[in-house]
Amino acid sequence: MKFNKICVIGLGYIGLPTASTFAAHGIPVVGVDVNQHVLNTLRRGEIHIQEPGLHDAVEAALRSGNLVVSEKPVEADAFIIAVPTPFYEDRIGESEGKQFKLADMRAVTSAAEAVIPVLRKGNLVVLESTSPPLTTVDLMIPILEKSGLRAGRDFHLAYSPERVLPGQIMRELVENARVIGGVTPESANAGRELYSIFVKGQIITSDATTAEMVKLMENTYRDVNIAIANEFSRLADRFGVDVWEAISIANLHPRVKILNPGPGVGGHCISVDPWFFVETAPDLANLIYTSRSVNDSQPHYALELVRNAIGSLQGRRIAALGLAFKPDVDDLRESPAADVVHLLQEEGAIVKAFEPFRPEGLPGIRCVPTLEEAVSDADCVVLLVNHQQFVALDPKTFAQRTPARIIVDMRNSWKPSEWQAAGFTLHRLGVGK
Ligand SMILES: NC(=O)c1ccc[n+]([C@@H]2O[C@H](COP(=O)([O-])OP(=O)(O)OC[C@H]3O[C@@H](n4cnc5c(N)ncnc54)[C@H](O)[C@@H]3O)[C@@H](O)[C@H]2O)c1
Repeated sequence: MKFNKICVIGLGYIGLPTASTFAAHGIPVVGVDVNQHVLNTLRRGEIHIQEPGLHDAVEAALRSGNLVVSEKPVEADAFIIAVPTPFYEDRIGESEGKQFKLADMRAVTSAAEAVIPVLRKGNLVVLESTSPPLTTVDLMIPILEKSGLRAGRDFHLAYSPERVLPGQIMRELVENARVIGGVTPESANAGRELYSIFVKGQIITSDATTAEMVKLMENTYRDVNIAIANEFSRLADRFGVDVWEAISIANLHPRVKILNPGPGVGGHCISVDPWFFVETAPDLANLIYTSRSVNDSQPHYALELVRNAIGSLQGRRIAALGLAFKPDVDDLRESPAADVVHLLQEEGAIVKAFEPFRPEGLPGIRCVPTLEEAVSDADCVVLLVNHQQFVALDPKTFAQRTPARIIVDMRNSWKPSEWQAAGFTLHRLGVGK
């Protein structure tokens, strides 16, 4: 298939890197977004999101004329849809005794509808948004066939999920393996030809529903494995065991790889994608549902740990170190650290949070701009995120910066002997010893 023009719909963390990478390979790209602020920013040669290497790539693409932006899709050889697939904020599903979040597919629906007037025979449409199983077949095909053209016969249709890591997107987009699931083998092959323009990683073709499942399985696998680690932390507390020691010994087994427990699971992928299985097959997704419940309740477990360490929380001054959903990033979406802070506040604690990667923090949480300010009058310090700068703290120096002598470490980041020698009582998640 020849690609003289590509239309990328949705210019966020996925669509914009994809559009600029195609443009860098000499393909004329029309980038489409419904957000006028995004379009205006790009028209000025600037970008609205932070991602290493993206600004230069977009600037070069715009300057070369290979990337232009538009409010609406235009005629093209291929259409790539990379719009958000969040949850409904105000709706909860219920079935089979389970309550679950519901995927909001309105952006995918309207992006597909916007393609109808410009869809031509021989075109390729690819959905990249993370989606519930069967979205391509049950949602995309009926919409696109309103054009009068038949999917798989008159135009190609495929699903290809994105697996890039924020912070590494420009490199991983090119180097990662990619699965392309077509509604027909010809559609998958057309997808392979499209992405071969820049992808250096292995390209595997399959059917659309398999490709949808692959993406959801990857993140669900992680979620379930973190859930068992979190459950192990509770069991270790019960049985007077150090879970970190037990995990490190168990992992010496050549076929065992237990992940680390923590105060919960966050981010916009691992804590989100498993719900797509629960929503679409509540009668089957029992383990997945239970794992989600374990991980979503872990912030409550973390709260109890703090309560056990200092007694009543009412009026106690707590320094919360970190709000991000994982170490060394500024991403606070679905963060369990933020959940723990909210729970502490609900119990009457006076919390000062310090998040070095996002000092302004989140609404409803009192964030302070420095570590000093967070700890200088604290009764207790709670380590929620193992940012490198927290892990590297020297306990002797730290003892001079805070009156707190009680520490709760949710990440097993600090060596108990060193902190105890500096005068602290250190409580760790999953250490009932
Ligand atoms: N960001 C990641 O690291 C990542 C990784 C893997 C998969 N994904 C998935 O990729 C998809 C896109 O994620 P993202 O992070 O790029 O989202 P994003 O919010 O950064 O960007 C999406 C863009 O789409 C635009 N948009 C919304 N509706 C539109 C419409 N109808 N027509 C045109 N534009 C529209 C928005 O204005 C926004 O600019 C999601 O399904 C997400 O789950 C994201």
